[in-house]
Amino acid sequence: MRKQMTAPAIRARKVRDGREPLVMVTAYDAPGARMADAAGIDLVLVGDSVAMVVLGYDDTLQVTVDDLAHHTAAVARGLASSAPEAESGKPLVVADLPWMSYHTTPVETVRNAAQLVRAGAQAVKLEGGRKRLPMIEAIVDAEIPVMGHLGLTPQSMHAMGGFKVQGREHGAALELVADAKALEAAGCFAIVLEGVPDEVARMITGSVDVPTVGIGAGPGCDGQVLVFHDVLGIEDRMRPKFVRRYADVRTVAVEALQAYAADVRTGAFPNADESYHLTAEVAETLGLYGSA
Ligand code: KIV
Repeated sequence: MRKQMTAPAIRARKVRDGREPLVMVTAYDAPGARMADAAGIDLVLVGDSVAMVVLGYDDTLQVTVDDLAHHTAAVARGLASSAPEAESGKPLVVADLPWMSYHTTPVETVRNAAQLVRAGAQAVKLEGGRKRLPMIEAIVDAEIPVMGHLGLTPQSMHAMGGFKVQGREHGAALELVADAKALEAAGCFAIVLEGVPDEVARMITGSVDVPTVGIGAGPGCDGQVLVFHDVLGIEDRMRPKFVRRYADVRTVAVEALQAYAADVRTGAFPNADESYHLTAEVAETLGLYGSA
């Protein structure tokens, strides 16, 4: 029986305590989740980035709890049937609470988090610092593990004036450290740090006992997260500085589709082996001699 990664196990993963850095990647569907599992990934994030990399929106503000629950369920189904022989623990499924699902009342926040858990999430993630504490405490109180998310928080893109690196100034850096300590005290088991200078990410990582997971936050975090489509080179419209592409799947996919189109147009696909055939007896009754 394979081990399942759990929120308490993730919480203990501080690099300064000699633990291995955490590896997180987004997944939005069953095949993606199975690939992440086969690769030995620790956490899969059903991110609201689904809006941009899968659903074709320009920002993450367009997706709802229902959308995230739909994709979370697909990821959970994929993991349920994946790699039974793998030696790594099964990844923890973290689902993003989308914009406006945790901005009104703690009651509504808990209801939305519960919808994601019922869809298959084992933890939820939400963006923001101290002003989100009542919501985080309410979710933790409902026994749902919460991951924080500080720095460049894409759901605040209008308030921030775009997708901009945060914490570049002295005061802003200290605010982020204070936010991280507050999230830890409220019960977050880990904190994503997005789009912050390396030095600030290191300050934050050194100030809290929960692991930090960076994206565009340098190598000093307790782990890293990237978007599936960026790692694999499926997304070709934008390439932030912090993305490292480990494959060029888009090129491979386009070349494969071009070859398929050419074969259909020339009649080379499908061939006899790729077709179903009647038995000789049935073909004969239909007057189709020699077609079997
Ligand atoms: O939605 C997402 O993909 C995220 C990561 C960038 C951390 O929140």
